Amino acid sequence: MSENQPETAARQKPVVLTGMQPTGRLHLGNYLGAAHNWKKMQDDFVCYFMIANQHAITVPTVPADLRRNTYSCLAQYMACGLDPAKSALFAQSQVIGHTELAWVLSCLCPLGQLERMTQFKDKAKKQISVGAGLLYYPALMAADILLYNAHVVPVGEDQKQHLEITRDLAEKFNATYSPTFNVPEPFIGEAGARIMSLQTPTAKMSKSDPNQAGTVYIIDSNDAIRKKIMSAVTDSEGSIRRDPENKPGVTNLISIYAAAAGTTPEAVEDAFAGKGYGEFKKAVADAVVALLSPIRDRYEELVSQKDHLDAVLKAGAETAQRTANRTLAKVYRKVGFVS
Ligand code: TRP
Repeated sequence: MSENQPETAARQKPVVLTGMQPTGRLHLGNYLGAAHNWKKMQDDFVCYFMIANQHAITVPTVPADLRRNTYSCLAQYMACGLDPAKSALFAQSQVIGHTELAWVLSCLCPLGQLERMTQFKDKAKKQISVGAGLLYYPALMAADILLYNAHVVPVGEDQKQHLEITRDLAEKFNATYSPTFNVPEPFIGEAGARIMSLQTPTAKMSKSDPNQAGTVYIIDSNDAIRKKIMSAVTDSEGSIRRDPENKPGVTNLISIYAAAAGTTPEAVEDAFAGKGYGEFKKAVADAVVALLSPIRDRYEELVSQKDHLDAVLKAGAETAQRTANRTLAKVYRKVGFVS
C-alpha cells in the first residue's frame, strides 16, 4: 500500500461498510444479529451504512414500494441506533461510483464463479425470467465494499460467499494493476445470529416464513409481541434448559431472553430452573417488549419526518461520495481510462 500507511492507520479508524436491502420490516433476528452489532461499531470504526436499492431491483420490484421501503428502512435503522452524526447513512443509488466500479470488477470476475453462487441459483429458480443483474449482483456488492476500502464487513451467513468473491476481486485487481484495495474481512455477529422462528424453531426467523406468528418484527405492537411469544412452540418436557436438538423451541427462547436482557444463556437457565414455561414465556415477552418498544416509538416518530430523512440521506451520500470519488479516480487511472 502507500508509503504512509502506518501513519494513516494510526490516525484513522478502520472502515466498516455494510448494506441492507430495503425490504420492509426488520425482525428480531435482524436486530439482534445485525443492527444491534452495527450500532456498537460506530465508535470504533468509520462506518458506512448503505441501503442497497440497486441490489433490490435485481428481482422485480414495485417502484412506489421501493421508495417507501427505503425511507422505512432508514427510519428503522436509525431507531435501532444508527446515528447520522457518527456514520454515513445513504442509499446506494445516490452515490456515483458503485456501478462504475462494479463494471471494472465484473471484467475481472470469472463468469463461472458468479454462476456458482448459491443465492443466485436459489433466486434464479424463483424467477420466470432471470435478469443479468441478478448474476452480476456480487460484482456490485464487491464494488460497494471496495469503493470505501472497507476493512470489516458485517454480514449474515448467507452473504459469506459474496464476501469471498469480493476478497478475490480485491486481490485480482491489486495483482493485475497495483496494490489498491484492502482485502476485507467478514464480521459475522454471534449473539442473535441464530434467532429461530417461534413456530418452527428449527428454521431461522424470517420475513418470508409462511407462518408469520413465528416472526417478531421490531415495530410490532406490544400486544402482538406478547401474543407471538406466549404462543411459541416448546415441548412437553417442562424444563428450561438448552438442547438445540431435542428442545429447539425452549433453546430459542433462552437465546432471545439472554440477548434481549443482555445476559448469558447460562444465567437464564439458572434463573429459571424449576419454573414453568408459562412464567418463562411471560418473562421473555417482557424482556422483548422492553427492548423493542422504545425502538418502535422512535421509528413512528422518524418515519413521518420525510424532510429529516431526506436530509440524513443527503448528508450521508455527500460523505460517501467524497471517498467514492477518490477511489474511482484512482481505479480509472490504474485501468488506463483517460481523464
Ligand atoms: N447483498 C446484501 C444482502 O442482501 C446487501 C448488501 C449489498 C451488502 N451490498 C453490500 C452487504 C455490501 C454487505 C456489504 O443482505
